[in-house]
Amino acid sequence: CWVQFEMWDSDDPVPRVELLKRVKGCEGILCVLTEKIDAQLLNAAGPNLKVVSTMSVGFDHLSLDELKKRGIRVGYTPDVLTDCVAELTVALLLATSRRLIEATHEAKTGGWGTWRTLWLCGHELANSTVGILGLGRIGVAIAERLKPFKVKKFIYTDVALRPELANMIEAEYVSLDELAKQSDFLAICCALTPETYGICNWNLFSKMKKNAIFINTSRGGVVNQEDLYEALSTGLIAGAGLDVTTPEPLPTHHPLFTLKNCVILPHVASASYTTRNSMSALAANNLLAGLRGEPMPKELKL
Ligand code: DGY
Repeated sequence: CWVQFEMWDSDDPVPRVELLKRVKGCEGILCVLTEKIDAQLLNAAGPNLKVVSTMSVGFDHLSLDELKKRGIRVGYTPDVLTDCVAELTVALLLATSRRLIEATHEAKTGGWGTWRTLWLCGHELANSTVGILGLGRIGVAIAERLKPFKVKKFIYTDVALRPELANMIEAEYVSLDELAKQSDFLAICCALTPETYGICNWNLFSKMKKNAIFINTSRGGVVNQEDLYEALSTGLIAGAGLDVTTPEPLPTHHPLFTLKNCVILPHVASASYTTRNSMSALAANNLLAGLRGEPMPKELKL
């Protein structure tokens, strides 16, 4: 079918006013995670809108209720980014636990003196317990990559048991409390929903081990950042690696940036050329299928 499209030809997000103007009368929208697809936007688009295709696996920027109410179909991009995100999560975990950012900084700036016994010591994966909060495809892919580092045990928690996925990595289901208490490394892999909003808060951090490393590559909203700052600055936990924050970008004066034991990345977990190409192709194919009224390659069931 012929599709007439208008493209925002920039790597920077389209300004909201511009978007609200340009969506008027559209039958389909292909967006990224910086665009809030809410009632205001859907009203601006009007009754022609049939499909929204987001180039992301996360969909917390979409008002699902509003979309459902209007009978608008939704496409998203799971699976194609799983390997890339898992790879980055492992990189961030190691950078945080082995203090790589601090170490390169010391080497570059004259902090590197004689060899010292305890200088820049971190925590190793061998013999550790790794906890996963939200066991989906990405959690499994992370565990598969961590296993060769001789992890002793994988544990997870989720809103429901995930026996099939858990069997793939021999992970044991535990309560959120136990996850906090037992994990030497805690990887946050859940979607941001009303249930998971702020779930990583003082209550969780205060139960964690002093040597624990907290890693978040899901969404910033699952973490209470004030509580995380307290936990890191008082030595309640050993370190945190964050690829996602609230807000994004995190202002450069944010207190978390002052902490040596906090490694912050600018939401780059899926940023490989291969993956971003696959994500855009899948998002485009979802959109086209939606416009034709055909089954989408990856449709979010509302
Ligand atoms: C997603 O897809 O939701 C990621 O956060 C960006 O790739």
